[in-house]
Amino acid sequence: MPSLEGKVAIVTGAGRGIGRGHALALAEAGARVVVNDLGATLAGEGTDATPAQSVVNEIVAAEGEAVANYDDVSDFGAAEHMIQRAIERYGGLDILVLNAGILRDRMLVNMTEDEWDAVIAVHLKGHFSPLRHAAAYWRERSKSGESLRARVITTSSPSGVFGNVGQANYGAAKAAIAGLTLIAAQELHRYGVTVNCIAPNARTRMTEETFGDLPAPDEGFDPLDPGNMAPLVVALCADEAQDITGQCFFVWGGSVNVLRPWDAGELLAADERWDADALLAELRERFPEGAAPEGMVPMMGKAGGRSMRVG
Ligand SMILES: NC(=O)c1ccc[n+]([C@@H]2O[C@H](COP(=O)([O-])OP(=O)(O)OC[C@H]3O[C@@H](n4cnc5c(N)ncnc54)[C@H](O)[C@@H]3O)[C@@H](O)[C@H]2O)c1
Repeated sequence: MPSLEGKVAIVTGAGRGIGRGHALALAEAGARVVVNDLGATLAGEGTDATPAQSVVNEIVAAEGEAVANYDDVSDFGAAEHMIQRAIERYGGLDILVLNAGILRDRMLVNMTEDEWDAVIAVHLKGHFSPLRHAAAYWRERSKSGESLRARVITTSSPSGVFGNVGQANYGAAKAAIAGLTLIAAQELHRYGVTVNCIAPNARTRMTEETFGDLPAPDEGFDPLDPGNMAPLVVALCADEAQDITGQCFFVWGGSVNVLRPWDAGELLAADERWDADALLAELRERFPEGAAPEGMVPMMGKAGGRSMRVG
């Protein structure tokens, strides 16, 4: 495992599931970890200090260093407090893993304003807010002459990059997070900060809600273990990964697929403004079978995984 000795990391939503796996692995690699978790229900309601504190206890029991933090990442001021907490407690910040999330699934025609707002707030603003404050801190350090090797890991989803029915709020936030990653990577590389994205897959309370009970195999490798994302996080946080930025990694068990982002595609070129009739005719000629998204299930298969929906 690459050594992250001396580095300071924050993992948001690290009290459970995938974030817990990231926090344990970063601590094992030598980082001091701020374990952020509001302790909300899956729908984003209530607070509970137990999840964050129990992960801190696990890290300390394994002779690592960690501290709990209960700030709500969707609150701009609270996110700044979380970044300051790391700096005050451990003297700096090197790694920011943005992972906290909630679910309020509903078909588009029935989705309420609250269901939309809550999910966009925790995922998208919950990425922007900590990232904004950490970026300002890193820019200041870089401008004062320090050579940084700082890291941001964002969390998208197959739902966001491939599009999953029933998750308009969640998928839109997750697609936006993939876009935010591309922009932040380009803006922050000059300061020595890389920004990469994970589209994870794991058995957590989140997938239980969407796909029901997904039993672990009796023996052998469990492709849905929430710790399966952790090696990628540790690898991307290593100093040697300084030139890998702006990428989105789909992870299923042992498959890590470096996804192609929105890419240039079929070009319909004219020397002047298209006439709508001619354009429609050209579209019908180029796409004789029509054009529509493939959907999440086949795309996950192409990326080296499987849909949890098909077992
Ligand atoms: N499990 C999967 O297969 C899967 C697939 C794609 C994406 N993801 C993403 O991975 C991330 C982790 O999900 P998980 O499956 O481990 O879910 P989880 O519910 O087990 O963990 C999410 C954690 O985030 C915390 N949280 C929620 N709102 C918060 C807030 N405002 N501030 C701070 N903490 C908050 C919760 O208390 C919870 O402990 C999420 O962003 C999720 O969307 C998961």
